[in-house]
Amino acid sequence: MLVGNWKMFKTIHETRHFAEVLGRNVGKLSADIDFAVCPPYTALQVAKVVLPAQILTGAQNMHQAEDGAYTGEISASMLKELGVTYVVLGHSERRQMFAETDGGVRDKVEAAQTAGFVPIVCVGENDSEREAGQTMAVVGRQTRIALEKAAKDGDKLVVAYEPVWAIGTGKTPSPADAQAVIQGIRKVVAEVLGEDAASQVRILYGGSVKPGNIAQFVSQPDIDGALVGGASLDPESFVAMAQSM
Ligand code: G3P
Repeated sequence: MLVGNWKMFKTIHETRHFAEVLGRNVGKLSADIDFAVCPPYTALQVAKVVLPAQILTGAQNMHQAEDGAYTGEISASMLKELGVTYVVLGHSERRQMFAETDGGVRDKVEAAQTAGFVPIVCVGENDSEREAGQTMAVVGRQTRIALEKAAKDGDKLVVAYEPVWAIGTGKTPSPADAQAVIQGIRKVVAEVLGEDAASQVRILYGGSVKPGNIAQFVSQPDIDGALVGGASLDPESFVAMAQSM
């Protein structure tokens, strides 16, 4: 699985350009890989219309309430009309800059699955947690709480391991280290949702993934794909990553 998280990048016009380039290269996209991009809300509608059908769309966040007085927020039913398949939840930028909590992510996971979306739940340790040897404790806690109210169906869930220190920095864990953490996440999924769900759930690696390093990560036995920020903005590099998987 290859997912592009565009963060706060790309206007409607720029999204059209991305789709045009993807459209010219659609023959290079393997039918065995699930593709998605997660544009800002303002570009979700056009993305759904102009992207090749093989590229699904995801939102970058969602509020857990059905509707209400939540200025600046977006609900499941609003996303539903836009044909969204995935919803990224608990991204470290949301946790750090917008005060999202483990419990809040759990409520959003439940709401997203209830609405029929597949949540992409992001977990990851920061630099000081890593240096203190807390990686698995942090990532295990985030995963456990996020899944407390989740469906026991691994097809309805994606988890992304994104070490905070690797996001947008050009630094990455070694593929073996990413594999070890992701194997640990899969064990936590087994504890919370059962063995069947743990074998079905897709667990992605994210953090400074690019065409030159994606193959090393996705060739690891427990790593089912990548969640990519910066390198997913350039359509040619998106295609190059797709071809390297
Ligand atoms: O969600 C993707 C992300 O946080 C990784 O960003 O730019 O390091 O690929 P980047």
